[in-house]
Amino acid sequence: MQLEISAHSSLCLVIGDPVSHSLSPAMHNAAYAACCLPFVMGGAQVRSGTLADAMKGVRALGIRGLAVTMPHKVSIMDLLDEIDPTAATIGAVNTVVNNGGILTGFNTDWIGILRPLEKLTSLRGKKVALLGAGGAAQAALYACGSQGASVTIFNRSLEKATTLADRFNVSVLPLEKTDELAAFDIIINTTSVGMAPEIDASPVPESALRREQIVFETIYAPVSTKLLRFSQRAGASTITGLDMFLEQGAAQFHLHTGVKAPRDEMEKILRRSLGA
Ligand code: ATR
Repeated sequence: MQLEISAHSSLCLVIGDPVSHSLSPAMHNAAYAACCLPFVMGGAQVRSGTLADAMKGVRALGIRGLAVTMPHKVSIMDLLDEIDPTAATIGAVNTVVNNGGILTGFNTDWIGILRPLEKLTSLRGKKVALLGAGGAAQAALYACGSQGASVTIFNRSLEKATTLADRFNVSVLPLEKTDELAAFDIIINTTSVGMAPEIDASPVPESALRREQIVFETIYAPVSTKLLRFSQRAGASTITGLDMFLEQGAAQFHLHTGVKAPRDEMEKILRRSLGA
């Protein structure tokens, strides 16, 4: 049963540019309703040049929490009062909590990587091939490193990958070295290869995948990517971008509300929204 939205409701926002595609409001509003919480989440398109003004607005309006998406995950860090140490190590914030006017930045993207993996295996001593060197790769590096896995970054541009690898003390290979992938236990795709509308592409060929591996796709639109279809045909275990989005959102919900997230309700609305 949903509580009526009223002048007492706590307001949350997803901010980004673009933002209209974001599934966060649907997911969080379904979760508030399931828990009978007097919260509501909307979305605000915030251009890069206006982020500082937007944050003044967050303070002035007493917005309770933010879900932060591209391109603001790094630049928002300078506009907050406190940064959680994990978010500081990752170098990105995807969640802001406003506690009595003190804005604190957190990162739950790494939890979105860790939780689905933990359900399948322990990461200790595992060899992880991380495809990509962008924002999602940073969260994956932290998640894997914190659990004692050893990571190799595979990326198209070696320059960008080397900067990231130096920060996390891991090694780098070119993305086309797919013949090396057989030696890895876990493959995590954080590149945008396979994302709509270019859904007929995979960052690695089917021949590079083995049935003993876990393949983690971070793309959630479409839910079933070519990489996941290749992995299933190879007999590998798979984790979808929907699993990751759900877990980062569940941790974010808990930070905003202090209440344990109703995962089943959140997953249901995500599956419906993504046609999965
Ligand atoms: P995010 O923050 O979502 O991780 P990003 O920072 O734009 O996104 O990073 C995108 C990643 O996808 C990068 O690793 C990028 O490789 P480069 O560093 O070489 O640019 C990778 N990527 C994007 N398009 C690609 C393509 N067509 N082939 C291979 N890699 C690609």
